[in-house]
Amino acid sequence: MIILKSPEEIEKMEQACRIVAMTLNALKGMVRPGITTEEIEKVADASIRSNNAIPAFKGYRGYPASICTSVNDEVIHGIPSKRVLRDGDILSIDLGVYKDGFYGDGAVTFPVGKIDSDVERLLRVTEESLYIGIDRARVGNRVSDISYSIQRHVESNGFSVVRVFVGHGIGRDLHEDPQIPNFGLQGRGPRLREGMTLAIEPMVNAGGYEVTILNDGWTAVTVDGKPSAHFEHTILVTQDRPVILTKIDQKN
Ligand code: CO
Repeated sequence: MIILKSPEEIEKMEQACRIVAMTLNALKGMVRPGITTEEIEKVADASIRSNNAIPAFKGYRGYPASICTSVNDEVIHGIPSKRVLRDGDILSIDLGVYKDGFYGDGAVTFPVGKIDSDVERLLRVTEESLYIGIDRARVGNRVSDISYSIQRHVESNGFSVVRVFVGHGIGRDLHEDPQIPNFGLQGRGPRLREGMTLAIEPMVNAGGYEVTILNDGWTAVTVDGKPSAHFEHTILVTQDRPVILTKIDQKN
């Protein structure tokens, strides 16, 4: 069942999502060669709590940290550690906030120092595919119209979309209906309606789409060892254009 949000609920979603955006923006400046992912985790955790909010991921199904930090061939759910970032790496930071009964969820893949041009293209195409998907999140369209548009953009650029992880509805729960795959045919699934809040999150691999989970039980990595990128926004479906809630300037 897809839960539509009232104006009062949407205001609370906006609060949680604004903290996601501000925190990701603050972390951006820390991402450089020589820093550890654990140092970034500490700042993220403190920043979220200083906004009287709770890091949504910590303890979620036993996840041990406040953010996910996934490096290079790590797709998602990388656990912050003493790993030192090096020039040419990419770092995906996924961050969830719980505030006043509602969740916000967002992710960005950052370059570390100077990255190869093909990896730069992976980041660009993945972010573009997120915005293309968001643009399809309009009243009357169906969920898979988002999915299809993301897959099409990614594959026409020679990359692949991860299948086993998908986007999701979000609100009083971190994961609500509907699931939002980053692949599929057009015109399938539920119709989009005003008041739906969705976390759209393409995970894009430079090589094949297959992933496997490391022995830590969390970190998803590409099977072929090639890099992977992840961009995510929480958005609101309105009668007008979709509104990106996890952006500091909400005018898109
Ligand atoms: Co998400």
